[in-house]
Amino acid sequence: MSNGTPAREQWGSSIGFILATAGSAVGLGNIWKFPYITGENGGGAFVIVYLLCIAVIGLPVMMCEIALGRHTQRNPVGAFLALNPRSSTLAHLFGLGMVLCGVFLLCFRNWGWGAVSLVLGALIFRFRWTLVGIMGVLAGFTILSFYSVVAGWTLGYVLKGAAGQLGFTDVAVAEQHFGEFIASPGWAVGCHFVFVLLCVLIVYKGIRSGIERWSKILMPVLFMILIVLIIRGLTLPGAVKGVQFYLSPDFSKLTGEGVLIALGHAFFSLSLGMGAIITYGSYLNKEQNIFLSTLSVVALDTLVALMAGLAMFPAVFAMGFAPDVGPGLVFQVLPAVFNQIPLGAAWATLFFVLLSVAALTSGISLLEVVTAYFVDERGYSRRQATIVFGTVIFLLGSLCALSVTGWQNMPWIERGLKAVFGTVAPSLFDVLDRLSSNWMLPLGGLFISLFVGWIWGTKKAVDEIRHGSHNFADVHLWSLLAGLKDDPSHSSDLHVVTLASLWGIFIRFISPFAVLLAFLHTIGWLRLGGE
Ligand code: TRP
Repeated sequence: MSNGTPAREQWGSSIGFILATAGSAVGLGNIWKFPYITGENGGGAFVIVYLLCIAVIGLPVMMCEIALGRHTQRNPVGAFLALNPRSSTLAHLFGLGMVLCGVFLLCFRNWGWGAVSLVLGALIFRFRWTLVGIMGVLAGFTILSFYSVVAGWTLGYVLKGAAGQLGFTDVAVAEQHFGEFIASPGWAVGCHFVFVLLCVLIVYKGIRSGIERWSKILMPVLFMILIVLIIRGLTLPGAVKGVQFYLSPDFSKLTGEGVLIALGHAFFSLSLGMGAIITYGSYLNKEQNIFLSTLSVVALDTLVALMAGLAMFPAVFAMGFAPDVGPGLVFQVLPAVFNQIPLGAAWATLFFVLLSVAALTSGISLLEVVTAYFVDERGYSRRQATIVFGTVIFLLGSLCALSVTGWQNMPWIERGLKAVFGTVAPSLFDVLDRLSSNWMLPLGGLFISLFVGWIWGTKKAVDEIRHGSHNFADVHLWSLLAGLKDDPSHSSDLHVVTLASLWGIFIRFISPFAVLLAFLHTIGWLRLGGE
């Protein structure tokens, strides 16, 4: 533990904290994924639902994570250790549930999953709520391993763009080029290495002179590039069709599935559910306003997501291409689109710089979670932790990079997985992606809000948030909204409806329920109409 070690480092300013946290939130999820799920799920209609999810679930849960971090001044594991009650009925119920589930599966000779359930049940009895923090640190490893592979591709495409090698005449050529690029071990592993190295170099420098300093440089750069790309896209003839496709609300395309997709994405996009925000919150001082900081981070993240679509779709439509989905849109369609615009190579390069910057500020937040754990709890120096675990992540990520196109490079892992679980995902990349996005993050988010709402208690959390944010906790909501908070006739001692009371209700009831629904949907146990 860190007793006796020098005082914990703190952010230099609230703008530094806001930009660093927004940097964690703004990533490949905003620029790569948000635009196409919006296009697919009813444009403006989906945006409205997404905004609701952000406000109703994302914002309250983010406040929980910041409050947990600032209160305990620890990494996610340390935070839960500090607040873990001696015994918790709720935790024991979950543990019992897992054990019974495991026995049931074993009876049906489902050995792999049965064993997993039993082990999880035992771990819940052993660690109780601290397991949520442990899962967060593990998620840090898992997510960064595959995230940095994709981030490596974007770096590779910056180089290719600058060298003028992205001048594809049509999508088929671009597709083939991309396929060869990611299957070439030298490129894939090399670029992944450079990305992890950049993360290590920044995190190694610490909070103020590493993460904060670089976020203050990179986030404005990101904004500027986005604005330039939007202006370029919107001034092309025929751009309006792209804006129409992207934003005109089509409620007939919005399904129950779409709502849950919006919710799941809100979580991923805000970096919630694995303690990244707990960790960043642990470097925040008591004077800073948690409510307003959260509001700013959430607003920036959403703004960038919306802007990213405006930077792409107008150009795609103006050049007469069809919007594709997923990785295809960014790595295959866009280079071909830019190729048709004058100075295409420059635009393509700029776009991939944008993606790389967004990925970098997210990558450092993931590495910081792992680093903070080993520094706080295991007595590593920051230098040791970043170098050792940067290397581990590089190695794990290399396996991902080599398996994106299938298991042919690593048939032994495939055989092992098949022996235990009966089925096998297409690649290690996929295994890690699904494990973290579909399981660890939603479960993490669910348990973080249950923990704050029912175990640590909203009262203690509000006490924490109150420091630096008196309006949030103590002013009657109506007086606050009406601008009458200091008016003598409006200041009574009994404030029933405050922002804090609304927040408490959301955290105790609404967020856990909504996250549970989204979780059941992603793992396929809940199907809603439409497809
Ligand atoms: N929010 C990032 C994105 O939108 C991804 C990310 C970074 C993340 N850190 C995280 C997701 C921590 C969950 C948890 O791309």
